[in-house]
Amino acid sequence: MNQGFTVWLTGLSGAGKSTIAERLAPELAARGCSVEVLDGDEVRTHLSKGLGFSRDDRDINIARISFVASLLVKHGAAVITAAISPYTQARAEARGRIGSARFVEVFVRCSLDELVRRDVKGLYKKAMAGELQHFTGVSDPYEAPENPDVTVDSEIESVEESVGKILVEIKRRGFLPSEIKAAL
Ligand code: ADX
Repeated sequence: MNQGFTVWLTGLSGAGKSTIAERLAPELAARGCSVEVLDGDEVRTHLSKGLGFSRDDRDINIARISFVASLLVKHGAAVITAAISPYTQARAEARGRIGSARFVEVFVRCSLDELVRRDVKGLYKKAMAGELQHFTGVSDPYEAPENPDVTVDSEIESVEESVGKILVEIKRRGFLPSEIKAAL
């Protein structure tokens, strides 16, 4: 069976986590991985329906995502998660549950200025006008990873470049079935 692993994308809303996940998924599939994406927005409409954005609710959301990811990883899947996951402690717990050796933390960096400029969902404008409480990066904390396995920067890199960097790390860790077969 293939060796499962999780690519844990963390970063502010609109930084590009979902876009990277969507582009990374077919690249991993093409290299022989069985891929599953757990996207924050999607998880919140199914698995975490009804949860809000208090610290407790975010922690529950992240615990659920990491629980599902750990089950999939046990069965050899390549899991990509794309949730803000703003708290260091919750990410550390996710790492512990999935197993450090199979956990690839990717910090998707982007400045607040650029996110406000993009504002794809119009949420930064609302948050800055005080119409949306506890919005990550504006009125709620985001604890950037101190030691991520990979840092990508959506402000200065193309999506291809970011995906390429993540693939290099996954390859380095020996997770790619196509590489493993080639080495036999
Ligand atoms: S997390 O903090 O629990 O990891 P998650 O990634 O699931 O967050 O959800 C974030 C998405 O919810 C954002 O991209 C945005 O579309 C939406 N959202 C709505 N309210 C908030 C808020 N107060 N803070 C952050 N995101 C919010």
